[in-house]
Amino acid sequence: MTPIETKQLPEHVAIIMDGNGRWAKMKGLNRVRGHQKGAEAVREIVTFSREIGIRWLTLYAFSEENWERPAHEVQALMKLLNRFLKSELREMQENGIGLKTIGRTEKLPKSTRQILFDTIEKTSSNNSMILTLALSYGGRQEILDAIQKIAAQIQKNEITISEITEQFVSDALYTAGMPDPDLLIRTSGEYRISNFLLWQLSYSEIYITPTMWPDFGKNEYLAALRDYQTRDRRFGATGGNRKK
Ligand code: IPE
Ligand code: IPE
Ligand code: MG
Repeated sequence: MTPIETKQLPEHVAIIMDGNGRWAKMKGLNRVRGHQKGAEAVREIVTFSREIGIRWLTLYAFSEENWERPAHEVQALMKLLNRFLKSELREMQENGIGLKTIGRTEKLPKSTRQILFDTIEKTSSNNSMILTLALSYGGRQEILDAIQKIAAQIQKNEITISEITEQFVSDALYTAGMPDPDLLIRTSGEYRISNFLLWQLSYSEIYITPTMWPDFGKNEYLAALRDYQTRDRRFGATGGNRKK
């Protein structure tokens, strides 16, 4: 039995996993310990999402702007990511979870890229849930990359300007082929998007909680999902006519 009504469950949940540093500070620990604990929370939320039937889960794990952090913190985050990918492969295979990534991943260290793309390849036929890790990701950079790609197609006379529809732009983004997020969750109580999925979040429902990411568990996730189920998604229309 699933612990939540599966009717009107979001198809795609996106999460800004924020507050690892503050969680650690509150406990008198260093920030890296916060990231370690945060990785455990990721595990729990990934497994649980799959269990209850979320089809797409997209996690903001490292932003383009996060490169500005002290080198030792960036290194610790990359190491944790490597460890996470290695330890989760089995779980992903057993549960039919496919891995994807969005972002300027060419900037990641070689060892991380290797294990990342190896895991993506190995899980490529899994389709019970797609877990997308946003790594070296920035929404503006994504739009910029799409504009350059489209402009190059025009320059080569491969397309005409009138062919640039919303769908065409969506297809030029890193998230091509993915549905837009239905629900965006942000932990740590910040009321901002921090350059996450700027195009894709246009009609997403937003749930913000003061809980720091390492403390975000199943119960609070369920609360966010239940809250989502009470929303009337009008998409600019007059109500009662949910798009799906
Ligand atoms: C989120 O936690 C993890 C990453 C951005 C990589 P933070 O490290 O941003 O934690 P705070 O916001 O400083 O508490
Ligand atoms: C957003 O958190 C990025 C990730 C969760 C990976 P940040 O901590 O980088 O965002 P700001 O600095 O609070 O906006
Ligand atoms: Mg933060």
